[in-house]
Amino acid sequence: MDSLRPELIEFHGVFMSHYFTDNWENVQNFKARPDDILIATYPKAGTTWVSYILDLLYFGQTNPERQSSIPIYDRVPFLEIFVPSIDAGKDLADRLQTSPRLIKTHFPVQFVPKSFWEQNCRIVYVARNAKDNMVSYFHFDRMNNVQPEPGDWSNYFHRFMEGKTVFGSWYDHVSGWWEKKQSYSNLHYMFYEDLIEDTGREIDKLCNFLGMSPSAEEVQRVAGSVQFDNMKKNSMANYSTLPVMDFKISPFMRKGKVGDWKNHFTVAQNKEFDEDYKRKMKDPSLQFRTEI
Ligand code: A3P
Repeated sequence: MDSLRPELIEFHGVFMSHYFTDNWENVQNFKARPDDILIATYPKAGTTWVSYILDLLYFGQTNPERQSSIPIYDRVPFLEIFVPSIDAGKDLADRLQTSPRLIKTHFPVQFVPKSFWEQNCRIVYVARNAKDNMVSYFHFDRMNNVQPEPGDWSNYFHRFMEGKTVFGSWYDHVSGWWEKKQSYSNLHYMFYEDLIEDTGREIDKLCNFLGMSPSAEEVQRVAGSVQFDNMKKNSMANYSTLPVMDFKISPFMRKGKVGDWKNHFTVAQNKEFDEDYKRKMKDPSLQFRTEI
């Protein structure tokens, strides 16, 4: 499997791997429909969690057999993925029969195909604090054979701060999407930490944005189904059916916590990180919680 591991390449000013740029023209020409919903995130910010919430809200009652037969990565295609032996995300998205279509991307905002903007699609962006995001991404790169080798923790720690990870700088990603929200009203910007704090409340906000009005019982049912332990044992949600991931190294559903960074960052790393963070994150309106 190791031979699948790509190099990090610089692409239009963003560090990427060829698995997400090889299908560039087709992806850029993707024809979005007005009711498409794009779930956009920096990798490891809670994409699968929010994808599963949306899938249950839209199709949990009308199409329950979907829950036990179709893995989440087929229900919510990853638009730009182009990996041998896995269906191209763009083709999966084109073939989706659902309405709305739920589509996932990790693109920084400037890479999103223009038809999503032209069609004024609803977009849900999920952001996670940089420290936990970094830790989660490190373990993901260790276990996912289509990601570049992460190296050791100390090396990875610096690479992350330099934006040398697939999909580029976390700082640019969360800030770019935050800025977009100021001019594009169909964008709902959510935080992983808020979801951890009160999943039901965040589902309510999401429904408000989507123009849905599920009953309180339905919201609680969805919140229960997407609780970490339930998703972790659900083979349709936990990625255990995807061969490129090596669960012996680390599971996809790893810890699902706020504050796990404290088990990885040394005191010196934390100081270095915080100083660098202040220099990079200039907009006081974008705030993250690293513990709750
Ligand atoms: P950890 O590695 O910190 O455990 P993505 O889906 O964007 O790849 O994000 C994966 C991260 O979200 C993992 O973080 C995973 O455990 C966490 N996650 C997924 N589902 C979750 C849930 N239901 N509750 C809490 N965290 C969840």
